[in-house]
Amino acid sequence: MANILPPDEGPSGSSTGPAVAAVVGGTHGLGLQLGRRARLAGLRTVVYGRSAGQLKDDPDLEPRSLDLTDPASIAACDVVLPRPVYVFWVAGAFLKKSLVHTTDEELEGLTRLLLTGPVRFLRRVLSDAPGPLHLITIASSSSWRRREHETLYCALKAAQAHFTRTLVAELVEAHPDNRVTLVNPGGLAVPEFHTGMEIDYGTMMDPDEVARIIWRTVTEQRAPFAEVQILRSREPGREGVPIVSFGPRAPEEP
Ligand SMILES: NC(=O)c1ccc[n+]([C@@H]2O[C@H](COP(=O)([O-])OP(=O)(O)OC[C@H]3O[C@@H](n4cnc5c(N)ncnc54)[C@H](OP(=O)(O)O)[C@@H]3O)[C@@H](O)[C@H]2O)c1
Repeated sequence: MANILPPDEGPSGSSTGPAVAAVVGGTHGLGLQLGRRARLAGLRTVVYGRSAGQLKDDPDLEPRSLDLTDPASIAACDVVLPRPVYVFWVAGAFLKKSLVHTTDEELEGLTRLLLTGPVRFLRRVLSDAPGPLHLITIASSSSWRRREHETLYCALKAAQAHFTRTLVAELVEAHPDNRVTLVNPGGLAVPEFHTGMEIDYGTMMDPDEVARIIWRTVTEQRAPFAEVQILRSREPGREGVPIVSFGPRAPEEP
C-alpha cells in the first residue's frame, strides 16, 4: 500500500516505532483522517466510536464499538492493543450555549464524552499492559482561548489538556519509552462538528492537512512530552493555513 507521507513525516511500522494505532473517535472528521494516514503507512489501525461498524468506505480500518457516554460500553469494549502502540484521544462534540441554557443532560453528556468517559477508557488501556504507548491527545485552542457561550466546552477541553500534561510523569514511571503529545488545534473544516452553525469553512483548516502535521510531530518527537498549537491563519489570502508552534499558551484574559 502506498505511503502518502514523505519518509520523514509518516508513521512507520518499523522496529523503531509502533506498528499499531488506535484512534478513539476515529470514525469521522480529524480522527478518521488520522486513522487513514496510519493505515496508508501500513500500521494496523483500530478505530473506536459509536458508528465504528458503519465504516464501509475504509475496510482496512479495524472497527471497535464504543460509546464514551456509557460506562457499560467502556467496561465492555475491547481494549487489547499490541505494544508499542499509538493511542489517539480525539472523540468529542461541540456545545455553544450560555450556562443558564445548558440542560442537565448536556452537562452530564458532554462531561462524560470529553472527560470522564475517555479517562475511564484510558485507565483500562493502561491497566492492560504497561507500554510502550504513545498517547496523543487532541484538545483544542479552546483550552486557553477566551470564548463566548462556550463555558462548558472550554472548561472540559482545558481539563483534558491538563489531565494529559499531568499524566506524563505516571506514564514515564510505568515505562521509560512511553510518550505523550498534546495537540491544541484551532478551527477545522468539519461541518458535522459545528452542526447548525453558519461558518465559512474556507477560512478553517483542512483536517487532513492537520492530521499530516500531527503525524509529523508525533513521529519526530523524542522527548517524553510535547505540546503543539496548530492555529489557523487569518491573514487575508492565507485564511485557514495552519500555523504550528510548540509549547503551552497562557489562558487569555476574560
Ligand atoms: N472541528 C473543530 O473545529 C475542532 C477544533 C479544535 C479541536 N477539535 C477537537 O477535535 C476532536 C475531533 O473533532 P472533529 O471536528 O473531528 O469532530 P467530528 O467529525 O464530529 O468527530 C467526532 C468523533 O468523536 C466520536 N464520538 C462522538 N461522540 C462519541 C461517543 N459518545 N462515544 C464515542 N465516540 C464519540 C465520533 O464518533 P461516533 O459518532 O462514531 O461515535 C467521531 O469519530 C474533538 O475532540 C474536538 O473537540 C475540533
